[in-house]
Amino acid sequence: MTAPKKLFVKTYGCQMNVYDSERMAETLGGQGYVQTDVAEDADMILLNTCHIREKAAEKVYSELGRLKPLKMANPDLKIGVAGCVAQAEGEEIMRRQPAVDLVVGPQSYHRLPQMEARLRQGKTALDTDFPEEDKFDRLQSRPKAKRAPSAFLTVQEGCDKFCAFCVVPYTRGAETSRPMTRILDEARDLVERGVREITLLGQNVNAYHGAGPDGAEQSLAQLIWALNDIDGLARIRFTTSHPNDMSDDLIEAHGSCKKLMPYLHLPVQSGSDRILKRMNRSHTAESYLRLIERIRAARPDILMSGDFIVGFPEETEADFQATLDLIEAVKYGYAYSFKYSTRPGTPAAERPQVDPDVADERLQRLQALITRQQQQIQTDMVGRSTKVLVEKPGRDPGQMLGKSEYLHAVHIDGSDAAIGDIVPVRITAAKRNSLAAVRQD
Ligand code: 5AD
Ligand code: SF4
Repeated sequence: MTAPKKLFVKTYGCQMNVYDSERMAETLGGQGYVQTDVAEDADMILLNTCHIREKAAEKVYSELGRLKPLKMANPDLKIGVAGCVAQAEGEEIMRRQPAVDLVVGPQSYHRLPQMEARLRQGKTALDTDFPEEDKFDRLQSRPKAKRAPSAFLTVQEGCDKFCAFCVVPYTRGAETSRPMTRILDEARDLVERGVREITLLGQNVNAYHGAGPDGAEQSLAQLIWALNDIDGLARIRFTTSHPNDMSDDLIEAHGSCKKLMPYLHLPVQSGSDRILKRMNRSHTAESYLRLIERIRAARPDILMSGDFIVGFPEETEADFQATLDLIEAVKYGYAYSFKYSTRPGTPAAERPQVDPDVADERLQRLQALITRQQQQIQTDMVGRSTKVLVEKPGRDPGQMLGKSEYLHAVHIDGSDAAIGDIVPVRITAAKRNSLAAVRQD
């Protein structure tokens, strides 16, 4: 018997990449690979990459440079690049870094076994097609390995929105939804393996329109209601949503579906209508605020999260101020903010750019405001009751870590709760990045 080969996977970027990395590792498991956390021990290193901002892509090339000596020490080592940089740059990656043996785009992961076979013959392998077949159907799954209580499940991929700054429509392709029965089968399998919380993933997840059992298109809300019927599944979340696809039935589900958690990531990007128009967002600051009013009417305690870009081409101080005003009006529990990054091939790349120092300064002001809001919301949680899904032991004896319904990281002191339990707690203190709590049974 030969020893199993070792696979080291490093994931960059979004949660969809985390999910894809798990699926790739499972598929290569079928080819005799087991995962390792130590790159130096690996027979294959796979970087699952992100192309959303320039820095993210550059990080990949630096990492490849660092890996090169490993390949010189072990000529049998195979190095692969997957994800959105692979899709966007294709062959160019092998030209720029000849240590790379394999380049695979996000839609071709099911072809990894054949690609790996080519590598064993000493060849290189490149696949950045957008094949017709559903990659997830063809990805093999290891039998019934136990899973952590919280899992991702990709239900939708790609985007047809073409925001003027964004590479996703080019790297992940046109929007597609997986059929509902496949998603439900996968969810049941996850629950059998110990999962209690599923986060449905998609670049534009609320545009989900997969085929139902009778072939008719189903909405994300309909999918959520079907998942709601799975015994043992306790929590449902979804991300990332576009304001224009927040349909009435989805808003209604936030009010009435008990398993759907009170948390919504709804990026707005800017609070200036002038900039939103230039971004091709097809919503206004006002329509976004009205939408949030309707969501909060359905679920008053919902915690809102968002994405912001500062320094988008032609953004003036007045435009930026409008973004701060919108943030003041919404009160975000979380937010992710980025300095605009020029992406070649996107419409905004050709436009007059904002001075980088001005953009830096705006980003700092925006982040200071968000931090204040976030901390206020965390402080307001003190004394309140919530439920925590226990995920792992904490640093101190008897301490357990988990997530509240609102996705706050919570540590429960003096608890005998087990991983996977959902325990009622009272919040006792707000720390910088987490909340402290005691059990309240
Ligand atoms: N520059 C900066 N931020 C970007 N995002 C997407 N493209 C860019 C870009 N070119 C941000 C958006 C999006 C998040 C995933 O990344 O805010 O919602
Ligand atoms: Fe990119 Fe999201 Fe806009 Fe689609 S909706 S183009 S994924 S920012």
